[in-house]
Amino acid sequence: MTSPLPQSLAAEYATEPLLVTDSDRVRFANQAFADLVGVPQAEIEGRGIDQIVTIIDEPMVVERLRNALRQGQPFRGEATCHTASGGTVPVEMTVIPVVSGTETLYVVSGLDLRHRKRLEHKLWQSQRLDAVTQLVDWISHEMNDAVQVIAGFAELSGQTSRQLKRDDIRVIERASRRATRMLSQLLDFARRRPAARTPIDLNEVIAQWHDLLEPLIGADIRLFADLDPAAPPIFADRGEIQHILINLVTNARDAMPGGGTVTIATRMTKPDERIKFEGLDERLAEYVVMSVTDTGIGMTAETKANLFQPFFTTKGDPGARGLGLATVQEIVREAGGLLWVRSQPDAGTSVEIHFPALAAVTPAARPAPPAAPPRPGNETILLVDDDPGVLRFAQRGLELYGYQVVAAQSAAEATAIAAERGGEIALLVTDVMMPGQRGTGLAQELLADWPHLKVLFISGYSGDESAEVVRRAAYLGKPFSIEELAGAARGALET
Ligand SMILES: Nc1ncnc2c1ncn2[C@@H]1O[C@H](COP(=O)(O)OP(=O)(O)OP(=O)(O)O)[C@@H](O)[C@H]1O
Ligand SMILES: [Mg+2]
Repeated sequence: MTSPLPQSLAAEYATEPLLVTDSDRVRFANQAFADLVGVPQAEIEGRGIDQIVTIIDEPMVVERLRNALRQGQPFRGEATCHTASGGTVPVEMTVIPVVSGTETLYVVSGLDLRHRKRLEHKLWQSQRLDAVTQLVDWISHEMNDAVQVIAGFAELSGQTSRQLKRDDIRVIERASRRATRMLSQLLDFARRRPAARTPIDLNEVIAQWHDLLEPLIGADIRLFADLDPAAPPIFADRGEIQHILINLVTNARDAMPGGGTVTIATRMTKPDERIKFEGLDERLAEYVVMSVTDTGIGMTAETKANLFQPFFTTKGDPGARGLGLATVQEIVREAGGLLWVRSQPDAGTSVEIHFPALAAVTPAARPAPPAAPPRPGNETILLVDDDPGVLRFAQRGLELYGYQVVAAQSAAEATAIAAERGGEIALLVTDVMMPGQRGTGLAQELLADWPHLKVLFISGYSGDESAEVVRRAAYLGKPFSIEELAGAARGALET
């Protein structure tokens, strides 16, 4: 018996998945490849490669692969593959054509990226956390200002000689609206969830984020938005777009230690731009371009070549992990977009992202017509909140609309009231997170005795919404206006 050649041993026992195929049939697959695709080694040989692995839904990768093979060139690229065993796996795929005698063989290797992706995801999350920390710093500063305004005017109005003027009240309202908006943006950004793509208007996302990006950049850098009002919507995840903006604007800031200008712009692609991209999908009619341009130090050729490598950074700063652009590219790719960087040393940098344009806004994206003011009522409402301020405000608001309000500061207090006057209570309005029994438990308990009782939850904690009983009842997020509260109460009473 002849012993196997060392090179066959190397191929067979290599931990890297390897396969050799001709244009028709697989000639050889090593054990690692069999493990990767979850098919016994003996069953791979002789089958067509497309029966073993197929690239999922990535026309650009497939197109590049075809082009390379047509020209007899090697190919390397990342792709998610569907395997014969029914699973999916992200791989870095290399295909090298080798002319052997009269035929061409292809040596295919598929490096399993699952572990790396998991690591990158973890780092990405921690990078998000860094960004959130910066935002929280800023928001707490802004919050102090808002509270200063609200508490200050409350104190002023306490001095009877000083009636609040209409303008004073407008200032208070503006401060609280601003505080509310900042909180909801922070929540939007911080909440980890899988990408939820919907038709979105890039201009609107950028315009909203203008305020939040400004504090990232410091006083000697000016931020401009140059938005094309005709830019059609794109199909993307709002939180991810925000993530991209934060990354690009942070990079721009770091590139301008002596100050400068950042411009965030949107526009449609010009037709001649199409040819610049290898693999641009010709079937898509138009792209919306979002660009972030700075007047900073620019990039050397070497930096440009390595830009998207995870962990590539030229910054001495221990906070910089070299993950920003890798993440941005990943998000853009998943959204079917393309990324283009123009930069010269000392001549600034422009990062352009091309997103496929959606032809038309779906009806759901149109704003709802303004609602009529809520109707008053005279029912009895049991109102529960552990925060005395909210309790008092909500009671006064509901009374303004004609309701009889019985207020309780805990679930226990509410249960005692219900035991005495249960029959006359038409609606329970309760906070969800309270010390002692929660609002959800309270509602369940009261519903057991008074099945016709209506329930409205009021809560400032968005995580509350998942509880089953909350989903079946009416729900109003804090903070709310008197009108919103009265409207929600009326709505709940009439269900
Ligand atoms: N606007 C820019 N101007 C000049 N150089 C840039 C710009 N954006 C990125 N770079 C270069 O690209 C490198 C990689 O950027 P990337 O955002 O991926 O990582 P980072 O900013 O170094 O670290 P992290 O984003 O993880 O904090 C940077 O270190 C920098 O050298
Ligand atoms: Mg960065």
